[in-house]
Amino acid sequence: MKAAFTIDDDALRKIADDFRADMCAGLAGKEGATLRMLRSYAGLPSGKEHGSFLALDFGGTNVRALRILLKGGGEYEVLSKVAKPLTLPGVYDYVSADATAEEMFDFLASIIDEAIDGNRETKYLLGHTFSFPSAQTNISDARLIIWTKEFAVRGVEGEVVNDLLRAALVRQGLTNVTPNAVINDTVAVLLSAAYVHGDTKIGAIYATGHNTCYLEPYVGMAQPPMIINMESGGFRKLLPNRFDAALDEVSEKKGEQRLEKMVAGRYMGALFGMALAELMGKAGRAYDFTSIDLSRMLEDTGEKAQAAATIVETVTGEMLSAEDAVRVRGLARSIVARSVRLIAATFVGTLWQIAGSGEIRRQHIAVDGAVYEKMPLVKENLTRAFFELLGADAPKVDTILAVGGSGLGAALAAAMTERAEQR
Ligand code: GLC
Repeated sequence: MKAAFTIDDDALRKIADDFRADMCAGLAGKEGATLRMLRSYAGLPSGKEHGSFLALDFGGTNVRALRILLKGGGEYEVLSKVAKPLTLPGVYDYVSADATAEEMFDFLASIIDEAIDGNRETKYLLGHTFSFPSAQTNISDARLIIWTKEFAVRGVEGEVVNDLLRAALVRQGLTNVTPNAVINDTVAVLLSAAYVHGDTKIGAIYATGHNTCYLEPYVGMAQPPMIINMESGGFRKLLPNRFDAALDEVSEKKGEQRLEKMVAGRYMGALFGMALAELMGKAGRAYDFTSIDLSRMLEDTGEKAQAAATIVETVTGEMLSAEDAVRVRGLARSIVARSVRLIAATFVGTLWQIAGSGEIRRQHIAVDGAVYEKMPLVKENLTRAFFELLGADAPKVDTILAVGGSGLGAALAAAMTERAEQR
């Protein structure tokens, strides 16, 4: 069973190679590329951005609106913050097809209203982190290509999301708030890390969903460097196992987001549930575990894997022997390890692309998201995979946590856009 989730060194290297090749194919708009390589129309911040901006962060389990004061020199202060879950069982649900675009954007406008205490006087620029594949021709507008992460709200796909947001702000009476920038959450993470730390050219989210962006140097192409949202969750040059295939079959968007369905927090619990069912002789059943369940099982390093036994009993009603509980925890470990190794391979492919024919430079990879932050064994597995793939270059690269990067990045995007418009 563990073998189904094992990726050896050679396979890992091939994934990193294929990922880089797919990046090039996607950039060149070649048929057969699986990476969308979407333009963000943003470069890196100068570090001098300052002023007070609003940020709206939409695209995961929670939605957040923040008022952020940028002070320049990598300094900032969160002046106010409102966070709400996108679903409150029995009360509201702004994820499923039960909701319409209008209802969802009205909800977002009401949260922005709360973050500014109903202020209708002060003029605010708002940066919007919208974390789904979107087509842009400038930094101010983004058209949703397709929902991911099992979102299914009606009437948003194919629309310019900032038009929908602007209309909702008007309905809410918030004509003093102007959305002027819309970016992906990975782009927000990269902007925020580059503002605070410098030496960062790759930004990623490892949470409900998974995706990575990077600063494409466009070597020799007389184009200024631009951050590209790869939508790496859509990478498809992989070997899915029988559980991946079964999960894809029952997902909202069959055939899409194949890498994401193998690695992201939204899906790891479900993969575990299917593999566990097979272990228990109930193949075909899909037990409902979450990635938080996996996290709890892995936190327990005790000999008897008691946490695994308790969680499995709660979800399936089956009691496990200590020996079986240890095996089940091993399964959870291998699902997490595969997830991390796949992501590491895509990071390495990206490092190779940035380095071009030169050497890999010393740098950070900024990552935000609960899986990266809280799941045991993630950092260890990442480091190991970097060593396998990069050898002597591995110590040049580290991953840094960019908590709250989505909000800060959105504020920075608003500030960068304002400055560009003033020029
Ligand atoms: C999904 C989205 C992507 C986002 C990622 C992390 O993969 O398609 O845009 O960056 O989730 O939230």
